[in-house]
Amino acid sequence: MVCLAPANAREAGSIIDRMSNYYERHIFFCVNRRDDGRPCCAGHGAESLQAYAKERVKALGLAGRGKVRVNKAGCLDRCDEGPVAVVYPDAVWYTYVDRSDIDEIVESHLRDGRPVARLRLE
Ligand code: FES
Repeated sequence: MVCLAPANAREAGSIIDRMSNYYERHIFFCVNRRDDGRPCCAGHGAESLQAYAKERVKALGLAGRGKVRVNKAGCLDRCDEGPVAVVYPDAVWYTYVDRSDIDEIVESHLRDGRPVARLRLE
């Protein structure tokens, strides 16, 4: 699991710069699970849809250095809007419901560079 908890904004910018140099786009899916009744992305199917996104990226030949990476992340602190994912370096946040939403994010944004307006979070 990737930890997205840099110590400060400068460190966060540096991490994003390094990731951007290695991958054209990097999508992080929160897959955090809580068992205490509070909202969590895993409670909305995040784990299976992250795995599906990874499969689709591979199937479309988008995976690898200089292309696209799909990762799991811990809580991204937007729990009430979940499930959530974020694409860097574009800093575009999404919510999604099902495989068709994932298909659209993968094909439109990750492959073609066009963010999916209807799934975006502000
Ligand atoms: S549990 Fe997913 S953003 Fe917090």
